[in-house]
Amino acid sequence: MKKPLVKTARFVISNTDVKKCPNDGKPEYAFIGRSNVGKSSLINMLTGRSKLAMTSATPGKTLLINHFVVNDEWYLVDLPGYGYSKRSKTQNEQLERIISSYILDREAMTLLFVLIDSRHEPQKIDLEFFQWLGENGVPFSIIFTKADKLTKSVLASNIASYKKRLLEDWEELPPVFVTSSETALGRDEILQYINDINDTL
Ligand code: GTP
Ligand code: MG
Repeated sequence: MKKPLVKTARFVISNTDVKKCPNDGKPEYAFIGRSNVGKSSLINMLTGRSKLAMTSATPGKTLLINHFVVNDEWYLVDLPGYGYSKRSKTQNEQLERIISSYILDREAMTLLFVLIDSRHEPQKIDLEFFQWLGENGVPFSIIFTKADKLTKSVLASNIASYKKRLLEDWEELPPVFVTSSETALGRDEILQYINDINDTL
C-alpha cells in the first residue's frame, strides 16, 4: 500500500518578520501569487484540512507569513498575495517588503510555488515577478489554479499559450502543475514532488 504523504498538518505561527519564522531547519515550501489566486485554498486542499489556512472570496485575506507543519517534518508557507489594487499604497508596499524579504532571506525556503489563475492570459505583474525571481536566482515551480472553472479544452489551450509566452523570456520552464482546490486535481503530483525533494535533502 502507498503511504499517505500527509499524515498530520497543523498551524504553527504567523509573522510579519522573516527573522521570527521557525528556526528548526525543516525544509519549507512557500506559496505566492496574486491576491485571490487560491494560495490558502491550495494549502487546505494539499493537507486535506479545509480550515487550516484562512481563505476568502474577497482578495487580500492573507496578510502575514503563515507556517504550517506537515508530518512534523516540513513546512508549507502561506504568503500574502501581491497586486491587490484596492489596498492602500502604504499597505501594498508593506506587504511587498514582507514578501520580498521572506523570498530573498529565508534560507529554509526550499522551493517557491508561484500560483497563476488558469483562466487568465499572462498578466504583466506575474511576468515581472518571474523576471525578478530569475534575477535573484530563486528556485520556483508554477501552479495553475482553479482548473475546475474551465472546460478541459480551454484549460489545455490556456496553459499551452501561457507556457509559450514564458518561453519568450526563459530558455526552459520549471515544473508546472495544474490544480483545483475543489476537485483536488494536482494534489498527488505536488505532494509527491515535495516528497521527492525532501528525500534528496
Ligand atoms: P489572498 O490571501 O487574498 O492573497 O488570496 P488567496 O490566494 O489565498 O486565495 P484564497 O485561497 O483565499 O481563494 C480566493 C477565492 O478563490 C476563494 O473564494 C476560494 O474559494 C476560491 N478558490 C480558490 N481556489 C479555487 C479553485 O481551485 N477552484 C474554485 N472554483 N475556486 C477556488
Ligand atoms: Mg490567502
